[in-house]
Amino acid sequence: MTGFPVRTFPLRACFAFRRAFLFLTAVCLLSTKAFAAPAPIVLTGSDRRPATSLNGEWASIVDPYFSGLFSFHHEEKKNGWFMNYKAKPGDPFPTEYDFAKAPKLKVPGDWNTQRPSLMYYEGPIWYEKDFTYVPKPHTHVFLHVGAANYHSWFWVNGQKVCEHEGGFTAFNCEVTQAIHSDNNFVVAAVDNTRHEDGVPGLETDWWNYGGLTREVSLIEVPESFIDQYDIHLSRSEDGIIEGWVHVVGAQPGEKAEVEIPGLHAKTTADIGADGRAALHFNVPGLERWTPESPKLYKVLIRAGDDSIDELMGFRTIETRGTEILLNGKPIFLRGIAIHAEAPYRTGRAWSDKDAETLLGWAKELGCDYVRLAHYPHDETMLRAADRMGLFVWSENPVYWALEFDNPKVLAKAEQQLDEEINASRNHAAIILWSMANETPNTPARTQFIETLATRARGLDPTRLITAALLVRAQGNTKIVDDPLGKALDVIGINEYIGWYEGHPDSADTTEWQIAYQKPLIVSEFGAGAKAGLHGGENERWTEEYQANVYRHQLPMLNKIPQLRGMSPWCLMDFRSPNRPLVGIQDEFNRKGLISDQGQKKLAFYVLQKAYRNKTIGKAD
Ligand code: GCU
Repeated sequence: MTGFPVRTFPLRACFAFRRAFLFLTAVCLLSTKAFAAPAPIVLTGSDRRPATSLNGEWASIVDPYFSGLFSFHHEEKKNGWFMNYKAKPGDPFPTEYDFAKAPKLKVPGDWNTQRPSLMYYEGPIWYEKDFTYVPKPHTHVFLHVGAANYHSWFWVNGQKVCEHEGGFTAFNCEVTQAIHSDNNFVVAAVDNTRHEDGVPGLETDWWNYGGLTREVSLIEVPESFIDQYDIHLSRSEDGIIEGWVHVVGAQPGEKAEVEIPGLHAKTTADIGADGRAALHFNVPGLERWTPESPKLYKVLIRAGDDSIDELMGFRTIETRGTEILLNGKPIFLRGIAIHAEAPYRTGRAWSDKDAETLLGWAKELGCDYVRLAHYPHDETMLRAADRMGLFVWSENPVYWALEFDNPKVLAKAEQQLDEEINASRNHAAIILWSMANETPNTPARTQFIETLATRARGLDPTRLITAALLVRAQGNTKIVDDPLGKALDVIGINEYIGWYEGHPDSADTTEWQIAYQKPLIVSEFGAGAKAGLHGGENERWTEEYQANVYRHQLPMLNKIPQLRGMSPWCLMDFRSPNRPLVGIQDEFNRKGLISDQGQKKLAFYVLQKAYRNKTIGKAD
């Protein structure tokens, strides 16, 4: 395929062509030349800022060969579809795309569940949306993207504004220079192709939902603005809140202020040359956040002309030997693992309603803890967990096998970890940062994840670092001695006794050998069952079988001295490409205690009873 046929042109046509060509080249040079990736702006608490939503219907063009961006010699085009060029009569070249005529896709939303033809689609899709805007003086404008799976590029009015890799974390693109008054357009290319050097890699046990899967909006901030903040209760000094506020573009001598009206507490701090203002102030009478009483305070953060009105809870979390201490007291985590699969409609969950339904079921199960697997979930989920009183295990998508000896892959995992922690560090609900799930025990893997764990501790020394480890077996003894455990505060283990190995009653004779005197969470166990399928308790895929696995698992796990929590796999059935069994799985992982259509299975009640009667875990 060629860009421009050059055989015969009448003179006038030549001038028209030259003019059009010069104009296009000028714009493109402007758009590409100027684009160098700036330091990432986080806009912590962005969901608490006034914003112009760009949610809704976007024009979309499926582009399996990415010909909207790459030429037939795979060179990046200067006049790609990001120009949203409108063909004009007499153009000396064809325009072979037109967003105005293109079908729509809803944003937020994965594309797979919006069109049957896209259910299995992995590749690039273009999105375009027109919007009007009134520029304001002394104002930065950011395009805020809640998440785009997996690799995405954004242009505003034909000018490239950002590129991002990673499908589950928010990012912000500065569009102040590209945006203008009245009519504007934003074009995005989103590509969910899996890559060996991706994070996650080629294999996952969840559907690779593609698209602009979370909220997209325009956020305005003043010239100097609050980019990040960390406000938490001190572990070492009772009744003291500490942390920092980071202001971008602060003038020397400018101050940051944090006020908690509900506690008549207020502090002002100088902003240093690095833009940071250190916080350390008294909060007499503070009611600490707990799952039983998830107290949230209005927190006003101000600096210069900028302000954010946050809603936060305050608690401390730490370990002491094999104990996990909440506000200094030992706790046991009664939990469940959850994928961001939308109940009933299926597809990537993103809304308040999705969060309320999923976490509502977890509360009904008797949980005070949820493992949000295997990637950072939406802010709506975290806000709901703060509100509803559920501890959160939040995870970076270092899942199964990655290229652990590839520094580029480490950099991607570090970037996603930074984005996760910087955006979500002020949620009282989050107590655990998980670095990985079921990774192979190799020196390269251990070094890779130790590096991430050190980075996470540097970013946030107030929470616990964990990972979900595989266990090895010798006869009927399960051994937990993965060397990665040394780098963790809390050991997570996944085991599937009674499902992938043995029978439900194999648990009765299983011994455990734990190499670590640290708190241990069983981050996964479980069994598959088709909701409504009934039969003998040793008949696979029946609800009775799944319940039988739970009945044998709980007393076995109770024998583990270090056991401080569990999150069985999982709350709700979720779509997975590895599950083709017709009539049973139908491309869903059926280990949910609830089907994707909300049917509770027998095992739901087995676990609910154990949680409500606190027969699992040391009474706390
Ligand atoms: C693994 C993995 C999950 C997966 C589960 C299963 O342990 O961590 O992502 O879905 O097992 O096989 O059902």
